[in-house]
Amino acid sequence: MAAMRQSESLDAQFYPAADQFFSANNHLALTFDDITLATLYSEILPRDTQLDTQLAENLRLNIPVISSDMDTVTEARMAIAMAANGSLGLIHYNMPERQQLSEVSRVKNHVHGLIQEPIKVAPEQLIGDVLKMIEERKFAFGTFPVVDDKGKLVGLLSGHVVKPRYAKRTVADVLTPRAQVHTIRQKELGKDPIAHADKFFNERPGIHKLLVVDDKDTLRGLFTMSDVERITQERSAQFKPARDANFHLVCGAAVSATRNAFGELDRERILNHVGALVERGVDVVAVSTAHGHSKGVGDTVKVLREAFPKLPIIAGNVTTAAGVEYLADCGANAVKVGQGPGSICTTRIVAGVGIPQMTALYVCSRAAAKKKISVLADGGITKSGDIVKALTLSQAVICGGIFAGCNEAPGDVIEIGGKFYKQYRGMGSLAAMKSGSAARYGHAANPTQKVAPEGVEALKEACGSVDRVLAQLIGGIQSGMGYLGAANLAQLREKARYTRVSPAGMREAAPHDVVELKTGN
Ligand code: XMP
Repeated sequence: MAAMRQSESLDAQFYPAADQFFSANNHLALTFDDITLATLYSEILPRDTQLDTQLAENLRLNIPVISSDMDTVTEARMAIAMAANGSLGLIHYNMPERQQLSEVSRVKNHVHGLIQEPIKVAPEQLIGDVLKMIEERKFAFGTFPVVDDKGKLVGLLSGHVVKPRYAKRTVADVLTPRAQVHTIRQKELGKDPIAHADKFFNERPGIHKLLVVDDKDTLRGLFTMSDVERITQERSAQFKPARDANFHLVCGAAVSATRNAFGELDRERILNHVGALVERGVDVVAVSTAHGHSKGVGDTVKVLREAFPKLPIIAGNVTTAAGVEYLADCGANAVKVGQGPGSICTTRIVAGVGIPQMTALYVCSRAAAKKKISVLADGGITKSGDIVKALTLSQAVICGGIFAGCNEAPGDVIEIGGKFYKQYRGMGSLAAMKSGSAARYGHAANPTQKVAPEGVEALKEACGSVDRVLAQLIGGIQSGMGYLGAANLAQLREKARYTRVSPAGMREAAPHDVVELKTGN
């Protein structure tokens, strides 16, 4: 027993908990590679660890990794992939407001048990117009219910006839008539509509759509076989998609502290835009700027909090306790922590400000705990071990570079010297600021060459699907938790013990003195 106590005190002396460790290092700001975590007695297998995280009362994710609101990272395709894997994408704001609304709609309408507002066509429409609508709204499907002007079901327009050769024909000419369309009454759906629809598709091979109608034959929804299959498979997956109360994928959108021509906060425009986002079903907005501890950001958060009391609001970025407190008092539910750690950032070089990420996270996490708000570790993450370290002091991480090379990131794959890349640029790079993100860095809407950019334009090696990248990251996070005996993220935060790493220790941590045949990732 005495020996046990001695070993415990030895461990505590060399591998202290966060408060003791960061206070002892308060003269030197540390980042991920400056520290390592000590292992602890464990009865937890990595595969049994839980990764769900609560960011606000109305915002819970099944995995704690969020894709960044950057114009080379998160649009609808990325946000769909993130939510389908249990997390969240923040749609960037370097686009017209109308486009951001439609990106959010694309996520919210993506996969449903029951599509409550299916896209419909009218009998008198031309097939050519339907084709144009598919092209403009980027629909990945071509079959539509046909309804009259009162919403009554008239038939089904099958994808087989939505072809340019029929462009001049009307929908009424080519539709499958009402009597041949498979429908179910809304009131017959019962408690488990998905099980009901699954049984229906099982019993009718070749039928892929089931329409829901009310007693007056008004269209009330649509099941598709692929959605139903996906959902039945999800029920046995460890990390379920992140969905809202209506079973829609969750989606976030970034907004800026927009100013009018007189340099004042444009409250009306901000409220109208966020109001429209909320109407589209957005689950969280992020007031995203380089300097969150500022009047413009605080006032934007206050205005939004007052107008939308229940809407989860993320705000940032900050790296100080005072910054966290300020945004919490303005009404933010979560703060983004990170100034200058990002892989494309030059803020520390250009402006001489910013704090290495682990120290910033420690300081902010203590202030956030007092205010009962969440911390999101934003930027600088290059490997799953960094995420484990960040999660000892935060509720989730935000990544840009890690996802920028994925298929689901905006932009095309570029081939250079037989290798494949995608563009990745800082939102403070001159090109991105010219596309709209100047306000994030406190510059005028049309920055000239006089403005010092705080980010670079770069390339990331193409790295396949988000599913694959996230699977690797999740595996790493679960490993880390297993080593610390942490069954969930709250235990990871509570149990973490730290020590500094010397430059020689850093070299020791990576493969060394070998000829590497295959890289670890
Ligand atoms: P990673 O390391 O994941 O970082 O690529 C992404 C985060 O970096 C921030 N960001 C910037 N910071 N100049 C900056 O100083 C920029 O141009 C810039 N663009 C993005 C942002 O917080 C993002 O999530």
